[in-house]
Amino acid sequence: MAIIFDEKNKTFNLDTGISSYILKIYDGGYLLNLYYGKKIPESCISGFDTRPRNASFAPYDKEIGNGDFSPDSAPIEYGADGAGDFRISAIKIKNSNGDSVTDIRYKSHKIYKGKPTIKDMPATFATEDEATTLEITTIDEVTSMEVVLVYTVFENTGVLTKSVKIKNNSSKVAFIERAFSICNDFPTMKYDLISLYGRHAFERDIERRPLAHGVQGVESNCGISSHRQNPFVALVAPNADEDHGDAYGFNLVYSGSFSALVECDYNNSSRLIMGINPNGFTWKLSPNETFYTPEAVCVYSPDGIGEMSRIFHRFYNKHLIRGRYKTEKRPVLVNSWEAAYFDINSEKLLDFARAAKEIGIEMLVMDDGWFGRRNDDTTSLGDWYVNKQKFPDGLTPFIDQVHEIGLKFGIWFEPEMISPDSDLFREHPDMCVHVDGREPKLGRNQYVLDVSRADVRDIVWAQMDAVLSANKIDYLKWDFNRYISDASSVQLPPDQKKEFLHRFILGTYDLMDRLTTKYPDILFENCSGGGGRFDPAMLYYSPQIWTSDNTDAIARLSIQFGTSLCYPASVMGAHVSDHPRTSYGTKADVALWGSFGYELDIRKLNEEQKTEFKGHIAQFHKYYDLIHYGDLYRVISPFERGDKVAWEFVSQDKSQVLLTVVCIEGKVPENFILKMKGLDENAYYKDEESGEIYSGAQLMYVGMNISYQVNGTYGSKKWYFTKVDK
Ligand code: GLA
Repeated sequence: MAIIFDEKNKTFNLDTGISSYILKIYDGGYLLNLYYGKKIPESCISGFDTRPRNASFAPYDKEIGNGDFSPDSAPIEYGADGAGDFRISAIKIKNSNGDSVTDIRYKSHKIYKGKPTIKDMPATFATEDEATTLEITTIDEVTSMEVVLVYTVFENTGVLTKSVKIKNNSSKVAFIERAFSICNDFPTMKYDLISLYGRHAFERDIERRPLAHGVQGVESNCGISSHRQNPFVALVAPNADEDHGDAYGFNLVYSGSFSALVECDYNNSSRLIMGINPNGFTWKLSPNETFYTPEAVCVYSPDGIGEMSRIFHRFYNKHLIRGRYKTEKRPVLVNSWEAAYFDINSEKLLDFARAAKEIGIEMLVMDDGWFGRRNDDTTSLGDWYVNKQKFPDGLTPFIDQVHEIGLKFGIWFEPEMISPDSDLFREHPDMCVHVDGREPKLGRNQYVLDVSRADVRDIVWAQMDAVLSANKIDYLKWDFNRYISDASSVQLPPDQKKEFLHRFILGTYDLMDRLTTKYPDILFENCSGGGGRFDPAMLYYSPQIWTSDNTDAIARLSIQFGTSLCYPASVMGAHVSDHPRTSYGTKADVALWGSFGYELDIRKLNEEQKTEFKGHIAQFHKYYDLIHYGDLYRVISPFERGDKVAWEFVSQDKSQVLLTVVCIEGKVPENFILKMKGLDENAYYKDEESGEIYSGAQLMYVGMNISYQVNGTYGSKKWYFTKVDK
């Protein structure tokens, strides 16, 4: 059993196979976090129950712990607001009398096999044999608020998930002002905080900083998880690198505004909280109602940041990605966007399809511009019916012809948006997100559609469903091209207005649920101006996300390295485009690290290029399983070294290895030794190209001299090794 309750010592031991997470029910029902780190056999560890109340200003209760206990210094498992703990709190509930003092204590618990779902929200999943769940019910005796802390341990994975349920057991209305998904107290502040910041077309740059006293962290206030900060943070030992040291990673399964904060206190301990951003959030909880927080995924690795990432990757491929394309090979696609932008029509796209078929591309994706009167980004979002000027016979005969050519067919939607110049807006101007009496701000010439409203969702779904049910559509790209300003819904009463942003996200989940339930065979790719909604919640619905609108292979290196901190290769949409900086060869080598495709005018290829592209596609097929399901090793990071970048995929059984090196700056070739990672040191590997055989130990510890082999600015080279008998 991965979760054990020690009755005598009142401790819980949550064992992920790699880590132990130990909780204690202390005097007065305080729930304490004794330990989270490398697996230990004990379930009761002494000396960590409390931290001394070493400051005279720390509030205490003289009945508890001989008067030496303060909730302000103890390792409180789920910090509550206002009752003696001055650190950043995970929960704050405004009671019917208007105060928001919240004080929760242990009441009961249950442990069971498997994992529950979370009402109306995406979450990771497991069979009964794969996971064990602990629910600890805590209660605020004064207000009758029940707060249930839900922990699931995925056996032998290194992964623990957490979420919280808040139930109003009183007879009066209360307001939740903060409800974080996780709260984790660490006894030290000797960590670096790693986060992924960015902006449109430059997503998920890795930023690392030592913790300092006070509150620090990252947030999105954009209404969606955003390009600006990803809902991922890690706390790592100051000396941790890819291969060594403690690394804790936290990823929120949520697509809305989030907050991930760490406070280092006067005791030099630290507390991390992560969840819905309380800025812009309050939830009215009527008697007997329950509120559910999103889930957070917690990973611990004693073997560095690289292994932390691999734990996330294996976990997401198995316990988050769903549907047909979880295991089925995804088709190589060509997308019309960078090839033609809005200038598409049936004839041109059929020419694309024929040219694509000739070189082995398997799917045509018709991006933006097929609907309403859309010739640029100023019109028609919300009018999801075909543009007859571009498709005179309608969509069905055109799509049928694409299939006759022998390609699958994909389509683009941006369901949660509305153009001011659209039939939908002219008919229902109240359906855009706005505050009465204020002119809502534009973003990319568009407004946001208020999908927190069921009636609005029904209208947009009816339009999408009409297109999807009348045609054989194999793929759908779901876009979202602005952030949410003027956040309010005209239908919500004043005391619920601040529920809007969360209700909006629940509305999005509802639409995505309708899509994936009714059309399980559609390959669904999420997008938000590239990677503006690159989060685990979206991955629950769509097995891949368009990583970035930046298709320059060199810029992509940083974007893909950053993204890979917690997201696997299988989920990163990566295309070869006409961006002029590098050769097609380098672009293909970089795009192979992801869900591969093209984004260029495929009609214009000359014979030599056609042969080259056929070669990329053959490689895509050859390396598909290795890249999608293998282990990633970041060998040389663009964040560390300016001249060369290298990464490897190693199959789970360590029998195949694909190493890729990109030269960023072709200086005079140095004596360049590259040490590989993750191989079986006792095995032998054959380099497919040269036929040379090396021991795994040699490749890892002596390294390969690759001087003169990847030279020239922006050149790249791959090495493929297979395990052989010597
Ligand atoms: C966003 C996407 C692009 C493309 C355009 C269409 O920017 O990231 O890939 O779909 O929208 O307008």
